[in-house]
Amino acid sequence: MADKVDHVVEALDRNSKAKLWEKLELGLVPDEEIKVIMRSVVEKRHQWINKLSCQQQQAQILELVQYESVTLDDAEIAMLDLYCERAQISDGHKVLDLGCGYGAVALHIARKHPHCHVTAITDIASQKQFIEEQCREQNLANVEIILADITTYEMDKEFDRVMVISVIEHLKNYELFLRKTSKWMKADGLLFVEHWCHRSLAYEFKASSN
Ligand SMILES: C[S@@+](CC[C@H](N)C(=O)[O-])C[C@H]1O[C@@H](n2cnc3c(N)ncnc32)[C@H](O)[C@@H]1O
Repeated sequence: MADKVDHVVEALDRNSKAKLWEKLELGLVPDEEIKVIMRSVVEKRHQWINKLSCQQQQAQILELVQYESVTLDDAEIAMLDLYCERAQISDGHKVLDLGCGYGAVALHIARKHPHCHVTAITDIASQKQFIEEQCREQNLANVEIILADITTYEMDKEFDRVMVISVIEHLKNYELFLRKTSKWMKADGLLFVEHWCHRSLAYEFKASSN
């Protein structure tokens, strides 16, 4: 069966790939089929890593993930714009970015919407330092970075939008997290969550070091 699906995936034109992604988003592709497709994709990535140049690998990844983008940078900006669109962010909103990483989302919102104020929280000092350097370089005065553990941090502020992107995987106590998050939201605020998920299993992040 794996061989068959390999050929099917290989032979898909852009239109069919777009339809496949649409079906995936709607949860209409059976798990067994997803497993085979993923195996085929991962195998191919291993082949590219061994054989192709960095540019060729990037082109192949783009082919898979963002068929309208020309470069990985374009694809990333398209994805960040999509987050903003789906979170319905408007210029002037107070935005909280929980678990902000190296600030891709916070910096993008601050650049795109100069009247937004973005508060970003991370528990890693080098991430805070990096984002602050970026703010200085890019003359962004509308970003504040807080170094704290979300699970114990308290603040008396409310936000129009709360962004939680690839962070839920790091947490175990969802109830506590959602209770805290709801206190930081205005009555008409919206929570945007991007979460790796599976119908029956949790995608759990395990740190192998600090
Ligand atoms: C996978 S990264 C996602 C980063 C960012 N949201 C993005 O999409 O680029 C997870 C982030 O959550 C942060 N994080 C995880 N647990 C946290 C906690 N308890 N308190 C604060 N930050 C936390 C990590 O430090 C990291 O910045």
